[in-house]
Order: sequence, then C-alpha cells, then structure tokens
Amino acid sequence: TSADLRSILDFTVKLARKAGDIILEGSAAIQSASSESGVGEKKNSVDLVTEFDVKVEELVKKELKSQYPTFQFIGEESYAAGSRPPLTDTPTFCVDPIDGTTNFIHGFPFVCISLGLIYRRQPILGVIYNPFLDHLYTGISGQGSYLTSKDSEPVRLPLSKPAKPLSSLSQALIAVEWGSDRSQTTINAKSSSFSRLAGDPAQGVADAKMAHSLRSVGSAALNFALVAQGGLDLYWEIGCWPWDVCAGIVIAQEAGAVVCGSYASFSSTSKENKFGVVTEEILTGRKYIVVRAIGDAQTEK
Ligand code: IPD
Repeated sequence: TSADLRSILDFTVKLARKAGDIILEGSAAIQSASSESGVGEKKNSVDLVTEFDVKVEELVKKELKSQYPTFQFIGEESYAAGSRPPLTDTPTFCVDPIDGTTNFIHGFPFVCISLGLIYRRQPILGVIYNPFLDHLYTGISGQGSYLTSKDSEPVRLPLSKPAKPLSSLSQALIAVEWGSDRSQTTINAKSSSFSRLAGDPAQGVADAKMAHSLRSVGSAALNFALVAQGGLDLYWEIGCWPWDVCAGIVIAQEAGAVVCGSYASFSSTSKENKFGVVTEEILTGRKYIVVRAIGDAQTEK
C-alpha cells in the first residue's frame, strides 16, 4: 500500500544517510592514503571496487534483511561475489552501495548510494543519496519525486520545467558515460555517437546534432537524478546494470522523464515488463543491455 511504501522510504532514507557517513569516511581514508590501498580491479583496470563498496553493501544488506526478512536483495557487490538470486515477483531491494566508485577513489564529489525497490518485477521506489553534496533524491511510483538538499524541505522534481519542449538535440545538455568496457568496438561506437551528438555539421561531422554540450558525471544514478532535477536534458549510456538504474528510473519517471532503450518498461501503452525481463537476463548472464546508439546498430556483448 502507499503507507507501506512511505514507511519503506523513511527506513531506506535513514539507511542511505548512514551509508553516506561511511562513504565520506572512506573517501577521507582513501584520499589521505599515500597509495591506492584497498582499491581493487574487477573485469579490467578501470572497473574498480574498494573495501568501502563491500562494507556499505554489507551494512545495507544486513539492515534491510533484519527489517524486511521476506524481501529479496540484489546488490552490485553481492552479485560480484557470486550471490545471484533470480528476479521474482517478491519485493526485491536493488542496491549499488557506491555508484561512481571511480569518482569516490579520485575525490570527485559525484558519488552516491542508489537504493531501489522492485515489486512484481518493476521498480517502484528509489532513493539516491550523494553525501558529498548532501543531496537526497527520493521517489515512489505515482507519488512524485523529490530533492532534499542539506537541511531544506523536500522540493518536488523537476525543479523547473522548461518553458517549452526542446525542439531538437541541438539545444540540449546531454550526459554520456565512458563506462568500463573500453574494447575497441565499444569505445569506437561510443566515440562516434559522442561526435554525432556534439560535432559541428557545418564543419563536416556527418549527421551531427551539435548539442549545447556533453557531460560525464561518472554516476549513472546521479545522471538519472540530474535529468529528474532538470539540470540535464538527456542521459545516454550503453551497458548499465540493474542497480545502476533501478532507483533512478523511478525518480526520473516521477519527474516526467521518459526512459527508453532496453530498460523502458513504464509506458502505459506497453504491457511488456521489460525491466523484469532485462534484469533477469542480465542477472542470469544471458544478455547484457543493448542500447542503440544514434545512427549505429552497435550493441555491447
Ligand atoms: C558505474 C557508474 C558509471 C557508469 C557505469 C556504472 P559503479 O557504476 O555509474 O558512471 O558509466 O555504467 O556501472 O561501478 O561506479 O558502481
């Protein structure tokens, strides 16, 4: 019920703030260490993990389990460690303990915990908390999304509506991400999409839209939050995982954003539950997310 969701939101917000304290302590510890102690690599040298990703996930998982013993849990680090429960209709928390791990290691203050709740295979609640800026984004399906900044009261998103819809990408501020798959095929496809988005057609860049500019904040969840807020017009990426997008989808959609690509699932005209299907396929290793780049038929894995 909506009262249940409000109470889950209150609990998860407190938990996200607690996680935020550990993230800040961890960042201070990493910044003061002379080497990159505690920084590990996953699939390659740019796919990073720290002891703090694991520590935050353990805390969050333990507290969620004790408060909601019947709920399932999907988390980035548990998944990496081999805990891969299938997605079912049971309420399931979907958590990225530190989204923006590279930023966290470098002290670039766009880092957050992303905590989503999936019910009947759809994301229905999201909490994204950036402890560096003390920005808390929350959303519940059908109840709007909000930004609480420092000690101020929650403000409904988007913060300001554009006077009129953008008539073309050329007026847009667009977030893109480099991701951690830097294989030649992927990086070529991404770079070519970046040039089509930002290049100058008058200077010979074929099919270019010459957007106002591109941004890369290094956190998928914060990109969703920034679109919800109104600071970004669009976020485009190939290769997100469920924990990168679960909370963000709710927050962005509640602010009026449209999510499309493999994760699109909320269109009222579509009965397809794509979030559930894509998440399950990713979790069981059958498929990675496929996103079509502008003018490309490029897929990743
Ligand atoms: C990553 C970040 C990055 C995005 C990747 C994500 P992590 O999450 O959000 O910006 O490009 O797709 O996996 O590894 O920092 O939790």
